[in-house]
Amino acid sequence: MRIESNPENVRAQVREWRKQGLTVGLVPTMGYLHEGHKSLIDRAVKENDRVVVSIFVNPIQFGPTEDLESYPRDLNADSRLVENAGASLIFAPQPEDMYAADFSTYVQVNEVSEQLCGKTRPVHFRGVCTVVSKLFNIVAPDRAYFGQKDAQQLAVIRRMVRDLNFGITIVGCPIVREADGLAKSSRNTYLSPEERKAALCLSRAVRRGEELVDGGETDGDKIIAEMRAVIEQEPLAEIEYVEMVSWDNIQIHHKVDGPILTAMAVRIGKTRLIDNFIRE
Ligand code: PAJ
Repeated sequence: MRIESNPENVRAQVREWRKQGLTVGLVPTMGYLHEGHKSLIDRAVKENDRVVVSIFVNPIQFGPTEDLESYPRDLNADSRLVENAGASLIFAPQPEDMYAADFSTYVQVNEVSEQLCGKTRPVHFRGVCTVVSKLFNIVAPDRAYFGQKDAQQLAVIRRMVRDLNFGITIVGCPIVREADGLAKSSRNTYLSPEERKAALCLSRAVRRGEELVDGGETDGDKIIAEMRAVIEQEPLAEIEYVEMVSWDNIQIHHKVDGPILTAMAVRIGKTRLIDNFIRE
């Protein structure tokens, strides 16, 4: 398996594969890979002849007070996981390989970026869409894989690909959880043992929401209130948002009468965690 930091070398390698008539899958990540990332890579390996995994902690999607500096990194462990999963290439650029000092072009997706994480992380989705556009242009894959763990991100990328005619199939993959329900996340490493226990209130609230919807409850406000109550029982948890939105356009929605996303961001101590469920 090859590790490359130079975008032009990645482009040349993919061109070689294309000449041989091979299909290419891309799994964009920020590294510190876990079973959630692995599920995306496994699916990509099944569905494509060659798979590129990008590992890049993208500075422009972090706000000034966020965890860019402390974001965990371990390229050696990541390389082993990617190689064992059967991917062909890791693209691990440095920030200067991706952003010239006078970089000045951004991709901004409106509507679907406005609510949920878009409210509290104002530059986040612009940074995500810009870096993912660059990755799509460098790798030009047939398919790209994204987790439902970041459901709004998945919706934003789908909208961007449609609006800008990228011609890449976006494959959404289910949330991978720890045995006790906590959604796997590179940021879980920030949690102390006490916080790790407290963090279970997110998946507990998701389960409560799912139970209500699957039991036929259609009143969005009632569902959200019950989910909030589950989180509020946990003294270490501080809710940023718990909201129901229409899965099609990520606008606030108060009734289960079509595809919906119910999503939350909750702070456990200093760590911001997200979780969600979708009913299509
Ligand atoms: P990162 O947080 O590393 O996640 C990379 C991909 O793995 C995302 O599509 C995310 O949804 C998926 N993922 C993470 N945890 C998961 C879990 N528990 N189950 C299923 N999938 C999971 O998301 C990003 O990086 C960045 O914003 C990126 C798209 C790479 C752009 O910089």
